[in-house]
Amino acid sequence: MAIREILIYPDDKLREVAKPVEFPLSDEVKAVVQDMADTMYDAPGVGLAATQLGVALRIAITDTDWRSGEVRHEDGGEPVAARNLKVWINPEFRWREEGMVTCEEGCLSVPEVYEDIDRPAAVRLRWQDMEGETHEADFEGFQAVALQHEFDHLDGILFIDKLSRLKQGMIKKKLKKRKKLQNS
Ligand code: NI
Repeated sequence: MAIREILIYPDDKLREVAKPVEFPLSDEVKAVVQDMADTMYDAPGVGLAATQLGVALRIAITDTDWRSGEVRHEDGGEPVAARNLKVWINPEFRWREEGMVTCEEGCLSVPEVYEDIDRPAAVRLRWQDMEGETHEADFEGFQAVALQHEFDHLDGILFIDKLSRLKQGMIKKKLKKRKKLQNS
């Protein structure tokens, strides 16, 4: 278990196209998945792609319940946030709806930037689980958006790529300045 460093835009490694994962999973890859979860919950975030940790493998995780305010009590103790960790390996969209939905998106690799992005409102996804078993299911709304955001990372795409050049330039400037401040 370890929290790893999340790469921040503009880091070239965020532009890498990730490679398919082979089964059975090696201990090294299993450790990557565990570290991804630790890192995402620590951040905290609702999704993370292996690319964001500098690992070019087609793995992403999500927990779209994480910040929804849902809590449960364990043995009458302190309430803890619900965890619904999903691991998506070698994900592939089989279909995307033509209708679009607009959601405000943010990204752990693009800190403090939140922008409205249009994406297909529903998707059909095929993916593999930790055992290598293949699944197919439909998703819509926030889940569909979160999955498209995360799987874009596996192709080296960031949500800010969908904004105007002007806005992208401003964001790049802001994050370079932030980095300079942190390093000084
Ligand atoms: Ni992201």
